Amino acid sequence: MVEISNDISRAKNLLNAGEVIGLPTETVYGLAGNALNEKAILEIFKVKNRPKFDPLILHFSDFKKAQKFIETPSDRMISLIEAFSPGSVTYLVNKKEAISDLITAGLPRVAIRFPNHQVAQALLKDVEYPVAAPSANPFGYVSPTCSKHVADQLGHKIPFILEGGNCKIGLESTIIGEEDGKIIIYRKGGLEIEAIEAKVGKVIVKERSTSQPSAPGMLHSHYAPSLTTEKLNKEKLHALATDGKNAILLFERHKSDPTTENIHYLSEMGDLSQAASNLFSMLRALDTDNYDNLYVELVPEQGLGRAINDRLRRATNS
Ligand code: TXA
Ligand code: MG
Repeated sequence: MVEISNDISRAKNLLNAGEVIGLPTETVYGLAGNALNEKAILEIFKVKNRPKFDPLILHFSDFKKAQKFIETPSDRMISLIEAFSPGSVTYLVNKKEAISDLITAGLPRVAIRFPNHQVAQALLKDVEYPVAAPSANPFGYVSPTCSKHVADQLGHKIPFILEGGNCKIGLESTIIGEEDGKIIIYRKGGLEIEAIEAKVGKVIVKERSTSQPSAPGMLHSHYAPSLTTEKLNKEKLHALATDGKNAILLFERHKSDPTTENIHYLSEMGDLSQAASNLFSMLRALDTDNYDNLYVELVPEQGLGRAINDRLRRATNS
């Protein structure tokens, strides 16, 4: 049985010993290990069943701690790091020698992140090495937003999960980097693109691709639940709702909605932050219920809605 507790010194001792543990962050839970320990890195790939071409994010308490392991980023990247750290954003920067090619899948850049979560911060402040942590889900499945999600899927493979409550943001971090002097968004996530553009002007958003992704989180069918998932045609809502084998996931409640029990709401009040924090736990809950099909409604394409729709589109493979 996996141990779940908020004992930070126990978490630290396990990381020091090269073990892999569940780590809470404000975005999603990570599967954490000492990034300077090759055995720990290999164990992360093994536990997640993750292909080695998919690189790992390094976590630090703050930018100062990361500097030993990376080349100095451009002034513009530093201004973004200063504006949004700690926070739900990951920066692609050039790595130094000390970071192994296993972490970056041989790429010249390494992903770094400073989580805005009290428990994660307490642990990261207390260790000298970078902590590698991909989301703590089997490769290709929905990310975990509470310790139970981690325990359900990976509890038999890891000794310990550091308890940090429900993830407040509930979507993975926004991944940003620079190419030819332009800021690029490689993955839409917990930090709104609008907030980044307010700092540095218009950015380029890389949409998903089916082959040769520059961030494999861009792989087409990533983040998918296992039941058949389709985009909802709102005109068919009432007809679909009459079949109890259909789960229907709507954004907000409307008076005209059917009142059947298979209708679920990301946020009854239509709040995008609430929808984001509910999304993955609802996808998981519906995936384990006795449903055959899942129909999902896209949310408004703004703010966190852009990242939510990205995950919903991936889940529906469209
Ligand atoms: O919110 C998050 O980012 C969570 C928490 C635990 O920090 N982590 C997370 O990690 O979502 P992961 O591994 O599931 O997703 C990270 C994505 C992957 O798609 C990976 O391919 C991409 O970041 N990535 C990592 N390093 C990269 C690099 N050097 N170049 C391009 N993409 C990279
Ligand atoms: Mg992931």
